[in-house]
Amino acid sequence: MIARPFAELASVGTAVPPGVLTNHDLMRTLDTSDEWIVERTGIRERRIATPDQSVAMLSREASAVALERAGLTPADLDAIVLATASPDRLLPSTACDLQALLGAHNAAAFDLGAACPGYLFALTVAEGLIASGQSRTVLVVGAEKLSTITDFADRSTAILFGDGAGASVVRPSSQPGRGLLSTYIGSDGRLAPLLYRPGGGSSDPISEKVVCERSHYMKMAGREVFKAAVRAMAEACDEALTRAGVTADQIDLLVPHQANLRIIDATAKHAGIPMSKVMVNLDRYGNTSSASIPLALDQAVAEGRVGPGSLVLLVAFGAGFTWGSAVVRW
Ligand code: ACO
Repeated sequence: MIARPFAELASVGTAVPPGVLTNHDLMRTLDTSDEWIVERTGIRERRIATPDQSVAMLSREASAVALERAGLTPADLDAIVLATASPDRLLPSTACDLQALLGAHNAAAFDLGAACPGYLFALTVAEGLIASGQSRTVLVVGAEKLSTITDFADRSTAILFGDGAGASVVRPSSQPGRGLLSTYIGSDGRLAPLLYRPGGGSSDPISEKVVCERSHYMKMAGREVFKAAVRAMAEACDEALTRAGVTADQIDLLVPHQANLRIIDATAKHAGIPMSKVMVNLDRYGNTSSASIPLALDQAVAEGRVGPGSLVLLVAFGAGFTWGSAVVRW
């Protein structure tokens, strides 16, 4: 077997729509309060896309930044793996729309559905494509327009989600020891009904009934999801560290999925990583599902919290249930 790392993250780029929806805005239509939302989740505001700001358009903006930072052009890409739970259309994939928008004519493009850890699942696929020799330069994208699948009449979910996109260029490791030191992904489909969209797919196609029942929107058993998230993120941190052969005290920054500050707190505590070494930006963006980790990582790079040589632990959990983690030497 070839030794890791096979692949490195050459860059990260992000895009968010300019429209801001604050907790105070939500209080106008929902029986909720800024205090409740901040205390239970840590979220203060989220970004909401307009109808013409599609997932593909947000992805294009994020990808253009990631490509420029890697010193590449769209023609250099030979694969695009786009993780999303809110594709623009059900057919074809949003990845193909992105390919067309970028003009990435040499790339095979496909979507990946793994909800919030989607970016980590896509990184894992990109690493495999590179290790097998199938691809050399892969664009990994996590992009969402969750505002279109969120029920803004349901206070238990409307307060959580936001829109955004993040992209990374993944390529063969350029220096010994630089890149993805470990990846870990897992799932438990028995728990699907705890966080799902019951209607609107091929088992219950879009119809007047689906729309009236609002079953095309996300439904979530928050407390159960919370408990499972804490358990799975803790286990995923342990697994990524073990696979990378490093210990928590060597980690420079933990970049967790931005779903809930209490889940992040519990994850950091379990891993034995102080909050001073944890990236948190959910106060500004809420839960952007597969875009969450690249949005946090990009901010960490911009703030100088991640730079050449930094050891970074990524971890996420979401609908499925799915979870994933990775240790990256930047
Ligand atoms: N404002 C005010 N009160 C509210 C609100 C609100 N927005 N939402 C719920 N409440 C009420 C409930 O009705 C309940 O009232 P009751 O006690 O009178 O019945 C009370 O607050 C407590 O409700 P809980 O659901 O138990 O609140 P909890 O502390 O669990 O917080 C939350 C809810 C924030 C949703 C939390 O459970 C959570 O973050 N869950 C995990 C979500 C998550 O991580 N998702 C990740 C995956 S997302 C993906 O994959 C796309």
